[in-house]
Amino acid sequence: MTLKQNIPLKAFNSFACDINAKYFTTIQSNQDIEVAFDWFKQNNTPYLVLGSGSNILFTKEVEALVLKMEIKGIQKTNETASAVYLSVGAGENWHHFVSYCVQKGWGGIENLSLIPGTVGAAPIQNIGAYGVEVKETIEKITAFDTHTGEWVTLNKLDCDFGYRNSLFKKEKNRYIISKVDFCLQKQPKLRTDYGAIREVLHQKEIQNPSLEDISNAVVLIRTQKLPDPKKLGNAGSFFKNPTISKSQFETLKIKNDDIMAFPISDTEYKLAAGWLIEHCGWKGVKKGHIGCFEKQALVIVNYGNGTGKEILAFSEEIIQSVFQKFGVLLEKEVNVY
Ligand code: EPU
Repeated sequence: MTLKQNIPLKAFNSFACDINAKYFTTIQSNQDIEVAFDWFKQNNTPYLVLGSGSNILFTKEVEALVLKMEIKGIQKTNETASAVYLSVGAGENWHHFVSYCVQKGWGGIENLSLIPGTVGAAPIQNIGAYGVEVKETIEKITAFDTHTGEWVTLNKLDCDFGYRNSLFKKEKNRYIISKVDFCLQKQPKLRTDYGAIREVLHQKEIQNPSLEDISNAVVLIRTQKLPDPKKLGNAGSFFKNPTISKSQFETLKIKNDDIMAFPISDTEYKLAAGWLIEHCGWKGVKKGHIGCFEKQALVIVNYGNGTGKEILAFSEEIIQSVFQKFGVLLEKEVNVY
């Protein structure tokens, strides 16, 4: 294991926060994980797995061993008349994997085009966009269990997926994911029900869209609405869309007729957090280096050399004002370190 010390993480987190990791190593194989595990146990040091750092906010120096996940490879493990089974290294870039599948004509993840991050990070928060969640295509996950020191294979049910949630969030820092297995469809049913996708297809006069048309539409919508982390520090949605009871929704609706929400069960509604934040007047607001993105209020951006602490403080102000105005408590989607 090549162990480095005091490594700057600015280039390894999409908020571009300028902090250091006390220890740092890259992981290219399962064996690298085992060696790192022995090291951090022997040295009684915590560890932190880093994919491409696109969903983490560093608010302090990292007094841990950072494992920069770089396990690569996309392998076809099985194929039937209707489906293809793929085993993918946790360090593969997510969008690269999506593009590979779209190009091969394998469907199921095209709506998740251009989501920043790695394949290994995708199941942790069960990434989702435009009517699709990654859990729908996941077959199993290979991970190292740091509680037992054993390799485990977790199937979809074991992973306990929910909206932006999974076993890996609930049992934080227990599993190190090395591989994700997917099942994709050769005659996919395209998901065009999301309004924004329908609009793009309509504008482009596409009546029988291909996988590539869907992927291109999603890329267009995302580039128009969300900031490019290479140009402007951000981690996508900073908050989750909150779930509230039907009765709380009905009370809110009386005062706020145009509130954006949709029912998720007979008794619960999911609210658009972006709408709540915008209606507290935050959209486009800048304070020092930090701001609420002008095109999507769910995104907090670092315009310059803002620190993680400043970003966190800004997010707390938003949480407070949404709570004061609507009585709804926003929960962060981004992992705060
Ligand atoms: N809205 C506003 N103001 C805003 C933003 C949104 O009023 O500033 C309202 C709009 O009316 C819109 C509704 O909220 O109709 C939903 O907005 P949008 O379609 O942009 O989706 P979202 O709920 O804000 C979620 C995901 C995104 C994902 C989109 C598209 C979460 C936390 N975020 O955002 O995921 O791309 O849906 O499916 O669930 C991410 O996780 O980083 C991310 C970008």
